Amino acid sequence: MFSPVLDPQQRQKLDPSDDHLFYDFPRFVTHVDEGFIQKLTQLYRERLTPGGKILDLMSSWVSHLPPEMAFSEVVGHGMNQEELSKNPRLTRYFTQNLNQEQKLPLEDNYFDAVLNTVSVQYLQVPELVFQEIHRILKPGGIVIVSFSNRMFYQKAIAAWRDGTEQTRIQLVKCYLQSVPGFSKPEVIIHKNLSVNPVLALMGLGTSDPFYAVLARKMPL
Ligand SMILES: C[S@@+](CC[C@H](N)C(=O)[O-])C[C@H]1O[C@@H](n2cnc3c(N)ncnc32)[C@H](O)[C@@H]1O
Repeated sequence: MFSPVLDPQQRQKLDPSDDHLFYDFPRFVTHVDEGFIQKLTQLYRERLTPGGKILDLMSSWVSHLPPEMAFSEVVGHGMNQEELSKNPRLTRYFTQNLNQEQKLPLEDNYFDAVLNTVSVQYLQVPELVFQEIHRILKPGGIVIVSFSNRMFYQKAIAAWRDGTEQTRIQLVKCYLQSVPGFSKPEVIIHKNLSVNPVLALMGLGTSDPFYAVLARKMPL
């Protein structure tokens, strides 16, 4: 049971084929640029607790966790086993198509943080996935959803594809607010990030826009 945020049309993808087909072969690429990644890693540095248990939901072969921070466990989830097996930070991982099965094979109240990076646009039933995120977080645990303006267009849901950067922030806030028990979402935006200060003076060299929506599981 969930309170729907999206109507059936908004959940549609241009490529309706099974996501397993699309993610069957590994993509050893980075999906956002260095400026975005630096902002994300810095956010993790500021908001994650060393020694905690982390779930990287919709992960791949790269980790954006601060290299100097140690965690007791970093569980990875994704669609491609070969990618996940190359991710140096994961202590264990599993594959699961979240558009077919939203229930996660993970304990209640277990994680200190759930991270979702440049992937939320592919979820067709986000309300149930966010319910699961809430279930597996410890009270006080944090969820950090980050995204930019890039996507696999044919695999993003209509509500995302057809929206603007502003409506996408609203959408992620609504996903969080559809689950009772999350704190009021916090939004972090960095636009026109400069990778090179000299180029920035000329209005050049800006990197991918950075958006993050954060919330905590409220204590019972
Ligand atoms: C653009 S990549 C981002 C990967 C990683 N978070 C990163 O920052 O590099 C999108 C990821 O979403 C995940 N994904 C896409 N569709 C999915 C689905 N139906 N079920 C579960 N995961 C999915 C895949 O693991 C894929 O690697």
